[in-house]
Amino acid sequence: MKVSLYTDDLRAVATDLIGVGVFSDEPDRSLAFSHLNRGLDGALEQACRDEDFRGKPGQTVVFNVKGGVQSKRIVVHGNGERERYTPESARQFAGNVARIAQRVGARSMALQLSVVDAPAPAQKVLDLVRALAEGAILGGYAYQEYRTKDRRESHLDEVRVALVAEDVQGVKGAALRGALARGQVLAEAVAMARNLVNAPPNVLHPLELADRARRVAKTYDLDYKALGPKDLEKAGMNLHLGVAKGSAHEPRLIHLSYAPAQRSERTVVLVGKGLTFDAGGLSLKTAEGMMEMKVDMGGAAAVLGAMQAIGQLKPSVNVHGIIGAAENMPDGNAIRPGDILRSKKGLTVEVLNTDAEGRLVLADALSYAQDLRPTEIIDLATLTGACMVALGRGTAGAFINDEELAKDLAAAWESSGESFWRMPLLGELREQLVSDVADLKNIGDRYGGAITGALFLREFVEPGVRWAHLDIAGPVLATKDSGHQSKGATGFGVRTLVELVERLRSTVD
Ligand code: BES
Ligand code: ZN
Ligand code: ZN
Repeated sequence: MKVSLYTDDLRAVATDLIGVGVFSDEPDRSLAFSHLNRGLDGALEQACRDEDFRGKPGQTVVFNVKGGVQSKRIVVHGNGERERYTPESARQFAGNVARIAQRVGARSMALQLSVVDAPAPAQKVLDLVRALAEGAILGGYAYQEYRTKDRRESHLDEVRVALVAEDVQGVKGAALRGALARGQVLAEAVAMARNLVNAPPNVLHPLELADRARRVAKTYDLDYKALGPKDLEKAGMNLHLGVAKGSAHEPRLIHLSYAPAQRSERTVVLVGKGLTFDAGGLSLKTAEGMMEMKVDMGGAAAVLGAMQAIGQLKPSVNVHGIIGAAENMPDGNAIRPGDILRSKKGLTVEVLNTDAEGRLVLADALSYAQDLRPTEIIDLATLTGACMVALGRGTAGAFINDEELAKDLAAAWESSGESFWRMPLLGELREQLVSDVADLKNIGDRYGGAITGALFLREFVEPGVRWAHLDIAGPVLATKDSGHQSKGATGFGVRTLVELVERLRSTVD
């Protein structure tokens, strides 16, 4: 995809389609709209009235141009109230317009940048420009890998972000182009993560996931290694090995790393749950519950996506990406409810429900992460259905053991537009994890299930390390097309992780 800036007259932009955003509470809709409308002798306004278009968020009117404006089509898109316009609104706008562009077979499109409070602070403008690039690329995303019929071919290969010079006064052209490029890197990383999650589990098993990680490492100049069963055994990672015992596929511990040119005191370790399929093991899921379980490597996909972007954006801190990859299946060799396993850390765990496997794999992966002398560990996992019960499908739960990290993370997710809600690590629920026969058991009771999952993981994080556990079971999937998200895998987490890593200073105080 070619993404560039356009600063001339919007009437003269020669693309297949122009997307123009309008506000619901502005009499003239927007400056760009009135400018186009005048060029069309009022026909654009008429088309909007005919369709009772009010500019509500996501509402659109598609207008075919017959002269007066160079572009072949105009998509008028509702951006809602002016006051509430954010980079996330810009991302939704760009995503919806890109989806329409895709549908009508457009090859090129222009997107009008709306700056609400012109002249806006430079950072705000750059955030909006970046959001447009992200939305434009992601809105056109479709997973077509296994379609032999009815493929939605994409022809869209050029996006021009149109802006009015006065709106972006004081913002340098190079900075604007940098924001576009950054948006493109992030969107491509998100699309890669979506491809991994959408891939069927017969194809994307742990070895294949490792192979794709190796390819990312090779392309973006990261270090790569993977531990197989023998290495895991040597390292004492019996929780990870245990989960994989019922599967015909070997587990892998995948390790990617990035180091900045200048030495940094800070080392961030990203840890992803990589269950390429979760049947539940002997504590078998229902047919219904199993249908979605190829998404159980969504945390791993987010980590890999983030590492791909980090390889390109080259932040100033050390970053490791660790993926615990395995498949959870029932079998004569599978672990049983009642089995006791010894973790890499040395703690023994009584496995009472083999479907609470994510925390087992992550526990050992966290101990592995711990050996890298991290200042921060962030784990991402489709860990519990309980988190979806608590927060709905669209929002991830964030369990954070340190206030400074909580602040940095919140700033990162606000900027990325991804929806998180901080959850409490309630100490009083810890007793649910006490086993009669081992150090820990792997489940609590029904209530507070997302929290006991997080408390289990906390047992494997050493004191003094800042740690966040992000339960992304809900937002890993979207149930419908909307804005920059298409039905299916979302690539959730990639953008927040990258944003966080870029915010962290290279020194630690
Ligand atoms: N992978 C599931 C959680 C999940 C559920 C992810 C729905 C995405 C959508 C996880 O391994 C699991 O099965 N968790 C159990 C834990 C329970 C047995 C303590 C759950 O949530 O029911
Ligand atoms: Zn499970
Ligand atoms: Zn799982």
